[in-house]
Amino acid sequence: MSFPEKVKIVEVGARDGLQNEPQVSTQAKIDLINGLSQSGLKHIEAGSFVSPKWVPQMADSHQVLRSITRFPGVAYSALTPNLQGFLHAIDANVDYIAIFASASETFSQKNINCTIEQSLERFEPVVSAAQKKGIPVRGYLSCVIDCPYEGKIAPQQVRNIAKLLSSLGCYEISLGDTVGTGTPVRIQQMLEAVNHDIALEQIAVHFHNTWGQALANLFHALSMGVSVIDSSVAGLGGCPYAPGASGNVATEDVVYLCHELGIETGVDLTSLTQVGWSITQHLNRTPSSNVALAIGKQ
Ligand code: HMG
Ligand code: MG
Repeated sequence: MSFPEKVKIVEVGARDGLQNEPQVSTQAKIDLINGLSQSGLKHIEAGSFVSPKWVPQMADSHQVLRSITRFPGVAYSALTPNLQGFLHAIDANVDYIAIFASASETFSQKNINCTIEQSLERFEPVVSAAQKKGIPVRGYLSCVIDCPYEGKIAPQQVRNIAKLLSSLGCYEISLGDTVGTGTPVRIQQMLEAVNHDIALEQIAVHFHNTWGQALANLFHALSMGVSVIDSSVAGLGGCPYAPGASGNVATEDVVYLCHELGIETGVDLTSLTQVGWSITQHLNRTPSSNVALAIGKQ
């Protein structure tokens, strides 16, 4: 079995993780992001410039991005659904942005209040404004396995929308198993479909762990050559518009698995684990990461 020599981890805990938490202080977010930077993570999604009416939990993203310590070599990003969000993100000095579409029509309506086609039209000026400023654009695609409203999504549909996002100018497409129902063979079929048009190096996997399959799916994706992984410290998270979906695969579990497979991550597992314990203590719970529980709080 072969695996990539190293992986890029995109830490989404401060965004995907905390967008679902009603009460997290701005200072706790800043401390979290600084801790993540110190643990060796190089790609940190720090917030989201969406409508505060839709996701009030992310309303302080500007302040968060303006207040964190910028560690050299670390790129800080945010979600931007439209030009308004893009302008706020630029003002907050993001290094790159992410637009987010869905492979499911119903999820698109529920999450961003428009059809898939309208969303792609809306992203066009965002991408061209970003390109003018030399800001790279990442593309998320949600519901690549199942939709919380429509059920199964065909791999061909995922392929089609991923291709459209890529031709808009996204340097990387993050494929989201939003509800976390995926299992390895379905993940493989979906990745193979997308890989017809998009090189493996440009594909990221974004697995939520609702059904406990994220690490198995990740292992399979790694064995297929995928080398960009989205994960969330302490397994924080969920999407407010995917009811019941739990957090992303925990970064601690990803780092442990990769190191055991001989894959470089650049992350210090001990330091990362303590960052996970700190934020979950703030949330009055323990990390949703078996590795963090096994290591314990120091
Ligand atoms: P809308 O209501 O159709 O937008 O929402 P609108 O353009 O009609 O504007 C309505 C109001 O929102 C206006 O304010 C705008 O100014 C304001 P009003 O005049 O009523 O006072 N507004 C904004 N304010 C601040 N920043 C903005 C912004 N845009 C409009 N950027 C919209 C459309 C897309 C804005 C809305 O649906 C929205 O914000 N949705 C975001 C939902 C969200 O954040 N979901 C979670 C992230 S996605 C996710 O978690 C999945 C992912 O992890 C991958 C996976 O797991 O699958 C990425
Ligand atoms: Mg997500």
